[in-house]
Amino acid sequence: MAIKKDGDFVTFTQFVQAEQAQYPGASGQFSWLMSGVALATRMIGSYIRRAGLIDVWGEHGTTNVQGETVKKLDIMANDALKRTLAYRGNVGVIASEEDDEPKVLAEVDADDSYIVMFDPLDGSSNIDVNVSVGTIFTIFQNPPDVKGTEKSVLQKGAKQVAAGYVLYGSSTVMVYTAGRGTHMFTLDPQFGTYLLTRENIQMPTFAPQYSVNEAYSHTFPEGYRRYIDGVKLQDNPGYSSRYVGSLVADFHRILINGGVYMYPPTRSDPGGKLRLMYECNPLAFIAEQAGGAATNGKTRIMELEPKNVHDRVPLVIGSIKNVEEVSRSLAAAGHA
Ligand code: AHG
Ligand code: MN
Ligand code: MN
Repeated sequence: MAIKKDGDFVTFTQFVQAEQAQYPGASGQFSWLMSGVALATRMIGSYIRRAGLIDVWGEHGTTNVQGETVKKLDIMANDALKRTLAYRGNVGVIASEEDDEPKVLAEVDADDSYIVMFDPLDGSSNIDVNVSVGTIFTIFQNPPDVKGTEKSVLQKGAKQVAAGYVLYGSSTVMVYTAGRGTHMFTLDPQFGTYLLTRENIQMPTFAPQYSVNEAYSHTFPEGYRRYIDGVKLQDNPGYSSRYVGSLVADFHRILINGGVYMYPPTRSDPGGKLRLMYECNPLAFIAEQAGGAATNGKTRIMELEPKNVHDRVPLVIGSIKNVEEVSRSLAAAGHA
């Protein structure tokens, strides 16, 4: 975008506005919406930093639609997003991991009405042990001609208008794409604003590293097991493995350093564990915009037609050559 000189800074809002300005007739509604998402993530970040101090650790005791026990912070993060987006008039529908059904915020027929979907707190079981967690979001156009909320949210990932995540790590970073490259912003804690720190990130095309919960590997389909066994036998390059257990943290490492992340079908989750709409699609969009790839083992993630807002899929995502290597192993074992 070439809007940054030495000593200058570009805020996230400036960046989104500059991108929008390239579209004649763009109303500015989209950047208003994105500023709502950014505000919510700053609120969530501050809750996380104060987790032990404001008594938000531990189980909240309720069960979400996925059948998992919800941590209190999941609810606070969900509420932060819902509350900030409720004031953005151009958000027609929101859908969240934590809510059974998509929620209509406003009955809008305008062309620039949006659907926002999110995983408010990803990796929440890591909160108790002070390990990085994240927020994932994706934005679709709200089709005015489609009647019924459930139906209007069921769009394939290729139709995403924008997507991103925030990683609350040693620093807080937002990674964002609106289909013109993948960009990174770092939260300046002193100013309370996201500043552009890396424009047009390109993922390495290959790195000898894989990320998977290997404890389940005896229940993976054969092609995954063969892949993992195979790379362990390679000397040049020798592979290493990393697994945080927060998808956003595992993916972010791969975005920067390269490699492959896998969540294959397992005995307890034969259709995969990760959610298509608000975990896999946004990360797939970001990966592709950075030169990487994402598949369910057979089909490009962003081509999958969702049947339900909470659909789960297997995920193989990362550097293009690593993803191809896994896909070849799956095909050789007859999975593709
Ligand atoms: P969430 O906290 O939003 O439910 O997501 C948890 C996900 C993801 O972050 C992580 O990669 C994966 O679950 C870890 O699952 P396992 O513990 O089965 O490896
Ligand atoms: Mn998650
Ligand atoms: Mn979550």
